[in-house]
Amino acid sequence: MKLFLDTADVNFIRSTYSMVNADGVITNPSLISRSQSKYGSAVLDLKVIGKFINEHGGELHVQTVGKSYEDITKDASFILEEFGNETVVRIPVSRDGLAAMSSLSQEGVKVAGTSIYTFSQALLAVKAGASQLTVYAGRMEENGLDFEALVELLKKSVPEIFVLVASIRSMSMAEKAAKAGADGIAYKPELLFSEVGSLLVSKTMDGFAESWKNTYEIGKFEKI
Ligand code: G3P
Repeated sequence: MKLFLDTADVNFIRSTYSMVNADGVITNPSLISRSQSKYGSAVLDLKVIGKFINEHGGELHVQTVGKSYEDITKDASFILEEFGNETVVRIPVSRDGLAAMSSLSQEGVKVAGTSIYTFSQALLAVKAGASQLTVYAGRMEENGLDFEALVELLKKSVPEIFVLVASIRSMSMAEKAAKAGADGIAYKPELLFSEVGSLLVSKTMDGFAESWKNTYEIGKFEKI
């Protein structure tokens, strides 16, 4: 199971990536614009993230913004040139998106189909050459769609394709994604450590520290 960071926050990536041994970073235009309000700074941040991942290993996924075939392919060329040739280009599975995926994948570009809500959309993306699919779990649930059933069906029908579950809104959604057979989960910063900081964990740790202190009168290990 791979773990991706779903953010364009450079400081968060720098402080967390190696600590959690992440497998990559994924972004989308909304996430990027949330971290940087100026276009120039956003592009510079993505360059920094691209360089960071190049040095630390893993994948950077950057999403195209344009809607027409021409604009999507131009965006893809920009992404590869500016952020590194190994960048995975995320393309929403629209009609023009599929056309762009088809020509880009034939040129050897690594493509991930995104904004996937249905099985047929996913199948079309695979047929157009996408080697990865990103399922937007939260957005699916918000629209009354069952992301677990989709992930399960994808892993049964196209097992060779990497299925990444993103748009996670809670840790229970991450568990459901794993149960359904997802190959990777993308966590947003606000969610990543939410369970390790939970009350149950602190209570358990307090209990251990208390037993130690009550018996040995110190709150940690010390040389004897
Ligand atoms: O990479 C972004 C994807 O996870 C979508 O997330 O929160 O905008 O639905 P969200």
